Amino acid sequence: KYNICIVGGGSRYTPDMLAMLCNQKERFPIKKLVLYDNEKERQEKVGKYAEILFREYYPEIEEIIYTTSMKEAFQDIDFALMQIRVGRLKMREMDEKIALKHGCLGQETCGAGGFAYGLRSIPAIIEIINVIRKYSPKCWILNYSNPAAIVAEATKRIFPNDYRIINICDMPIAILDVYAEVLGKKRKDLEPKYFGLNHFGWFTHIYDTKTGEDYLPKLRELLKTPIDVQTEPLFQEPSWSATFEFMSQMINDYDEYLPNTYLQYYLYPHKMLKKQNPEYTRANEVMDGNEKDTFQRLDAVLANGKLKGTEYDIDGSAGCHAEYIVDLATALANNTKEIFLIITKNNGTISNLDPEMMVEVPCRVGSNGVEPLSVGNIPTFYKGLLENQYAYESLTVDAYAEGSKAKALQALVLNRTVVNTNVAKELLEDLINANADYWPKM
Ligand code: G6P
Repeated sequence: KYNICIVGGGSRYTPDMLAMLCNQKERFPIKKLVLYDNEKERQEKVGKYAEILFREYYPEIEEIIYTTSMKEAFQDIDFALMQIRVGRLKMREMDEKIALKHGCLGQETCGAGGFAYGLRSIPAIIEIINVIRKYSPKCWILNYSNPAAIVAEATKRIFPNDYRIINICDMPIAILDVYAEVLGKKRKDLEPKYFGLNHFGWFTHIYDTKTGEDYLPKLRELLKTPIDVQTEPLFQEPSWSATFEFMSQMINDYDEYLPNTYLQYYLYPHKMLKKQNPEYTRANEVMDGNEKDTFQRLDAVLANGKLKGTEYDIDGSAGCHAEYIVDLATALANNTKEIFLIITKNNGTISNLDPEMMVEVPCRVGSNGVEPLSVGNIPTFYKGLLENQYAYESLTVDAYAEGSKAKALQALVLNRTVVNTNVAKELLEDLINANADYWPKM
């Protein structure tokens, strides 16, 4: 039985993870559950919710702790599931609006938004990992925190030999869920071949795990027509339908594979810019939507004092974000050798790219950690894009490490959603001012 800590315990994503831990208790039994967050009020709400949920669905658990003390949280844990958002959605909103003011995309992982957020995340992640390592030297740290590519580059540099830090993202999995639905399959019937950086990669094959059939050609044919037209109402979220319009365009225009949806920001930035509302961005949507709904639901459960049989009961469908991280922990715990897409050091996995790159590729996962599966050489177009993007990510980490404004500017100029040096300079000044409480001095 394991001791688990959710770092970012007060997040709107935590209740789903808790539900998933309850669903998976046979495969992944827990002894102690700890929720850590630096926001006391939210942490308490989610903590009290956890007590009710576990009382009803996991009565055999020995201990539940929720705390804002890292020292208390990180004692003797086996798995840390990390999903922090430094500066919360308020800072995300700021990044998005500042970027849009300069005519650039402020998206929280791509472009200027991700750059600003990256410089906020790095110091917090490093601090947390250092404290975890002090009290739980061998614990697995499964990191979901964004912007995952920049965070992964930073953790690789600061903790080069710590193979128990694993950086992941649920996006390729969320995309695979859509493909599975289109194909009338379950995601676990599909085995993807994929390469790239986080939020910057491509599926090259999607095999049926039983028959070995490659569905990629069929999916490409199907996706030439926007997916929503074919299978409405597959998407509850309007942004997904728009995303699959882009996917169709990519395939019809020139792509050989199936791109990660985030490539729309990098490859069609002007088009994406036109879709943004500078007064009401994604952060506003999330604050007024998902986040508000989640906390209203928690308030209702706390007021009720129970969950089972009420309209707020869990239903076994916690979503792929929660499922993926719990599945990964299970694979590490039970040495299952299943394949996951993980952000890891290239080391020759993609033969014609820098071995230092933090690439996102399929890896086999067992009790010794992750083992990347060879990709081989990739074509020139993709190689060029990836090298440019990795240089941007790497310079962002340099800017943090050296407190260097010049490196920060170089990073922004290399980012395909910024490019223009004059714009980058003005944008950087505004971001430095807005992030004074978070960034290193530069
Ligand atoms: C996906 C992406 C994440 C992102 C998340 C939530 O999971 O991979 O990087 O943080 O979506 O996005 P949202 O805009 O709903 O906060």
